[in-house]
Amino acid sequence: MSKKVLITRIIPSNAHKMLTQAGYEVSVWEGSGPMTQVQLIERAKEVNALISLGADKLDKFFFSECSHLEVIAQFAVGYDNIDVEEATRRKIPVSNTPDVLSDATADVAFGLMIAVSRKMFYLHKTIEHGEWKQFEPLKNLGIELSGKTLGIFGMGRIGMVMAQRCRGAFNMNILYHNRTRNAEAEDRYDARYVSFEELLQQSDVLSVHSVLSDETRGLFNKTIFSKMKKSAIFINTSRGSVHIEEDLIKALQTETIWGAGLDVTNPEPMHANNPLLQMPNVAVLPHIGSATAEARNGMARLAAENIIEFYKTGNMVTCVNNSVFDKRQN
Ligand code: DGY
Repeated sequence: MSKKVLITRIIPSNAHKMLTQAGYEVSVWEGSGPMTQVQLIERAKEVNALISLGADKLDKFFFSECSHLEVIAQFAVGYDNIDVEEATRRKIPVSNTPDVLSDATADVAFGLMIAVSRKMFYLHKTIEHGEWKQFEPLKNLGIELSGKTLGIFGMGRIGMVMAQRCRGAFNMNILYHNRTRNAEAEDRYDARYVSFEELLQQSDVLSVHSVLSDETRGLFNKTIFSKMKKSAIFINTSRGSVHIEEDLIKALQTETIWGAGLDVTNPEPMHANNPLLQMPNVAVLPHIGSATAEARNGMARLAAENIIEFYKTGNMVTCVNNSVFDKRQN
């Protein structure tokens, strides 16, 4: 009997095609938004494998109801919506989609950095509101980026591309803080590993590219913002829960830091009356880091490849809990 795969949202059709061609029976949730957990569990009970998205809550309860699942391929690089420990305990392999979205996501961080430094989103709005009257010698002044210091929090694949962009375009000095040293970043971009404290103190632009974990949840709070330069720009394209939004708003209102660019907010979606949207030195986007045709097609392809590879070889291309395989062999 052929394996059944559920895709929990409509994603690029190459995933569906690849899986069908490989002989699987594929069903897709075609609702305009994500399923509720009750709907998800009901559907997941009928299949062997899942292509999940960030809005799907795959927590302990989900796994207790769906322990029959053989494999989960997440259509995202981040997988903080999945209780991977629980999946591992139940010997269910989980994969994500790294690399294919690194360029797209770093481009958004890079774009936000420039937009904030020159107040672009805000000034665009002033024109719409009929406020462009004349040349203003002393108004709307931004900050130049050339030769400034970029601090990268989380020097993984996306952080590396951000470092490359900033080095190449603005000859920025690159500092980074990471769980482990990144020799490639040090060689290629002259990046210097520093303590978290030094990163906060030295960065003109601090760009967050870390995963969301117990260590990073709510990390960028009042105390942390107070340690940054008054002229600093804070960029977050990883997960909104890494910063405390109330504290960020205060830090900007009190000029503790200079500006912020966010592709991820806390909570998501951001409410239309959030004060950040009215601030000149702020640019906000609705979590579009991976939203290019190239990245999304790549994510769909990789998610499908992971499932196909699993059933073909017993491994996955980009598994996040490889220990599952060790346990199986034992
Ligand atoms: C990712 O891939 O993690 C993006 O943030 C989309 O969820």
